[in-house]
Amino acid sequence: MVKNITHVHKPDYLMVVADVDALNRAVVDEIKTAAEAAIGEHGRFTIALSGGNTPRAVYALLAENKDSFPWAKTFFFFGDERSVPPDHPDSNYRMVNEALFSRVPVPATNIFRVPAELGAAKAAERYEMVLREFFQLQPGKLQPGELQSGQFPRFDLILLGMGDEGHTASLFPGSPAMAETSRLVVSNWVEKLKTDRITFTFPVINNAGEAMFVVAGAGKAEIVKEVFTTEGEKYPVQHVHPQHGRLLWIVDQAAASLL
Ligand code: 6PG
Repeated sequence: MVKNITHVHKPDYLMVVADVDALNRAVVDEIKTAAEAAIGEHGRFTIALSGGNTPRAVYALLAENKDSFPWAKTFFFFGDERSVPPDHPDSNYRMVNEALFSRVPVPATNIFRVPAELGAAKAAERYEMVLREFFQLQPGKLQPGELQSGQFPRFDLILLGMGDEGHTASLFPGSPAMAETSRLVVSNWVEKLKTDRITFTFPVINNAGEAMFVVAGAGKAEIVKEVFTTEGEKYPVQHVHPQHGRLLWIVDQAAASLL
């Protein structure tokens, strides 16, 4: 069901679904559709996953497509990671490995984990090199006036969540990475959490073929209303608008209840 709402934040597509089960099904359907389109167009599907709690059930449902999803042509990345080892309870990689990777025949070489055990700064540098190599980008920082074209990876799909203060990936309000315009991946101090995170930057997110927000629960209703009814880019999620791609929001009724 797509609600008719007058909103400021103009996604290409806002789908409001009844509950979390419907949300999980809708997101998995969108991932499968995007995979089919990408593989049809250029022979592979590159997806950056979101962490947190909401997408865990999405990944578990996707794993049920064990025998039908094009795992060998799908390449998994992470839009952000916590500064912890891969076996730590807070690790996004650990969550996705438990919910998805450990249950499907995806080749290990198709999974690009953030080496967060190196510490945030080193991990960000290393991950940026991985992206530059995988997407065959030109090396290093742009010289002033150099063309931006071809400098950023183009993920077919980037999955994103939203925190209750409007952060996405690990781009939190007021954090240094909010202003980053040339790096692909950075270490970002998050004052609220008193920790460094590793995160994609907005230029990477906004170069995606498709950015999809997945938001559920009554706890997000206030921030969803704020994001969709306030002008400007006060909230990090409002900085997400792929220049040459689609912006989708899939939201359950509880989170959309104030729209
Ligand atoms: C993370 C995520 C983060 C998440 C939001 C929403 O590493 O935690 O990338 O951006 O999407 O915090 O999290 P929930 O879906 O758990 O509310």
